[in-house]
Amino acid sequence: MEITTTVSETRSLIRQWKKEGMTIGLVPTMGFLHEGHASLIKKCREENDKVVVSVFVNPTQFGENEDLEAYPRDFHRDMALCEEMDADLVFHPEPEEMYQDACTFINITDLSDNLCGKTRPTHFKGVCTVVGKLFNIVTPDNAYFGQKDAQQLAIIKKMVMDLNFDVRIVGCPIIREEDGLAKSSRNTYLNERERTAALCLSKAVKRGQEVIAKGCNSNDVLQEMNEIIEKEPLAKVDYISIVDALTLQPVEYVERPVLAAMAVYIGRTRLIDNFIYGEEPAEQ
Ligand code: PAF
Repeated sequence: MEITTTVSETRSLIRQWKKEGMTIGLVPTMGFLHEGHASLIKKCREENDKVVVSVFVNPTQFGENEDLEAYPRDFHRDMALCEEMDADLVFHPEPEEMYQDACTFINITDLSDNLCGKTRPTHFKGVCTVVGKLFNIVTPDNAYFGQKDAQQLAIIKKMVMDLNFDVRIVGCPIIREEDGLAKSSRNTYLNERERTAALCLSKAVKRGQEVIAKGCNSNDVLQEMNEIIEKEPLAKVDYISIVDALTLQPVEYVERPVLAAMAVYIGRTRLIDNFIYGEEPAEQ
C-alpha cells in the first residue's frame, strides 16, 4: 500500500495506473475510520482495480465554533485498517497542501439551505470544494459515500451533474452498532450515559419507518419521531424533517421517494441519522 501526502506524487501514481488501463475507485474520508468506512472501502475494492482512500480532516467544512481541533484522529490505526481492507493508496495531505492560499470554492445553492445546512451554513461549501478537489486530483471512475450523510450524498450527486465531473457516485447503506446507533467518528465524544441516550435517534428512525409505511402525511410521521426524541432528557432536536429525496425540499404528503432526516444533540455532541422511503435501498 502506498501513502502520498502531495498532489503531485498522487497524480503521478494515478497517471501510471491509468496508463496501465486500471480503473480507480475513491473513498473520501476524514479518518478515524470505523466499520462504516470499511464498508465503503470493501465496495470500492469489489468494483475497481485500484482503491484510493483519502484521509483528510477538511478545515473548510467546519464552522467557527465547531469541532475541527477536537475531531478524533488516529492515522496509524487508519493505515492498519486500509492495509487490512487491501487499499492501494492512502492520500493524506496537510491542509497547506490542499488549500495554500486558495480563494476559489464550490458553493451549492438550494440543496444546502435546509437540514444540516440551516445550522451549518458554510459546511457544504467546504465539502463540495474538497470533494471537487479530490475528484480533480484522483480522477476516480467511481467514488463512494455513506447514506448516513444523506444531504451530503444528494449534494455531491447534484454537484457532479451540474459541474460535469466524470465520476460515478455510489451511495452505500448506513452501518449500525448492534443496538442500532449509526456508526460515526463522533460517537467517541459520548460518555456512557450519552451513549445510551443516543439510541433515541435509531429508535426514532425505526418508529418513522413503521408509521410512514402506513401511508400518511409528513407531520404525523414527524410527530411520532419527535415524541421518541423528546422522551430522552439528554437529547435536543436540531431538526427532524421529511424532504423530497432528490431536491431536499420539505414535502407535506409522502407520495414519492422521501428522506426523513434528523440531527439531534446528545449533550454537546451533534449526531445525525435518517432513512429513505419509497426508493430502492442503496446497493449492499
Ligand atoms: O463524509 C466525510 O467524511 C467528509 O464530509 C468528506 C466527504 C470526506 C469530505 O471531507
